[in-house]
Amino acid sequence: MKTASRLSLLKPSPIRAITDGTPPGAIPLGLGEPTWDLPEPARLALLRAPGPCGYVPHAGLTDLRKAVATFHGASVDEVLITTGSQGALFALFQAWVEPGTKVLVPDPGFVAYPALARMAGAEPVPYPLSPDRFRLDADALLKVLAATPDASAVILNLPSNPTGGGGDLDALRRVAEACVARGLLLISDEVYRDLHFGVRPPGLREVTDRGVVVSSVSKGWGAPGLRVGWAIGDPAWLTPARVVHGYAVTGTATPAQWAALALLEHSDAILAEARAAIRGRWEALAEALREHLGQTVSPPDGTFYHFMPLPPSAHVDPLAFALRLRDEAKVVVIPGLAFGEGGRGHLRLSFAATPEQLREGVKRLAPYWRG
Ligand SMILES: Cc1ncc(COP(=O)(O)O)c(C=O)c1O
Repeated sequence: MKTASRLSLLKPSPIRAITDGTPPGAIPLGLGEPTWDLPEPARLALLRAPGPCGYVPHAGLTDLRKAVATFHGASVDEVLITTGSQGALFALFQAWVEPGTKVLVPDPGFVAYPALARMAGAEPVPYPLSPDRFRLDADALLKVLAATPDASAVILNLPSNPTGGGGDLDALRRVAEACVARGLLLISDEVYRDLHFGVRPPGLREVTDRGVVVSSVSKGWGAPGLRVGWAIGDPAWLTPARVVHGYAVTGTATPAQWAALALLEHSDAILAEARAAIRGRWEALAEALREHLGQTVSPPDGTFYHFMPLPPSAHVDPLAFALRLRDEAKVVVIPGLAFGEGGRGHLRLSFAATPEQLREGVKRLAPYWRG
């Protein structure tokens, strides 16, 4: 048996390499998912399912599209419902990224972006984030863009997985103007935008309606298992992506769309509760870092990730260091290098875990920083 040659372009995710071997009793600070219960409106919607459970239009359940449109200040025909934001990213890449072209991706950045570019036959080109807080640095991105005449798409992710860094409106505007001027697909991945610590990070639609925003109920609404996401943008960008998504999966599971609709209808309360949950967890983490490592930290712009500097001795082989933390200290964290060379000196610690897990996890990590 021989797999298709395109598969050779995909490397197995280092995140899975760490999490798959998790020993019993280990504290999970690795995976990026909410650990609190699915909010009640979604649970009730799943119980109240009407009789038939049929297909819905490829673009998604009309009421859900309306709710997403209202949330984003868009019109219904600017909304495509997808299987998570990942489904939106896949469909957009397949529809618009020409083989042989290049896609600008943040470094460090979400591991799926380079893989999706390669699956579309393109080459991912990393652009750096600001060196201080890993925020969007328009000058750095535009420099890479200017040196990449064969770029077909640019991906933004504010606030960022894995760094939690955001960006300001002016930086977004400058990047958007450059992409519009060159006719490039600009995708703004805003899945973490509502998980912030005070000020809501800027969104692409505040500066232009000529890019595509992707998001989902997976993070802020606490429902990654529903697999409901969306793309917002000009129907001219979305229609070809809808065709790809339709052939790939037909549509997102209908009951999941009912549940997502119930979540969207209670957005204010659900998102406020999620922010309170991550605020409480952040405080537990910050307190533990102060107590056990003597570190004073400030919260990220958003997300539930703390991008933590590694001890210098771990920079040479961050993956081996993370495996030691997993197998000896029994704490699962992800080496920043998994997200690109720009993350080499850090690790990603997810504070979506419970406060007790965070306190115990940091206590177990402390000897590795001291020694
Ligand atoms: C930055 C970012 N974008 C997209 C996704 C995909 O999420 P989903 O498909 O659940 O919306 C993730 C998941 O971790 C993520 O971190």
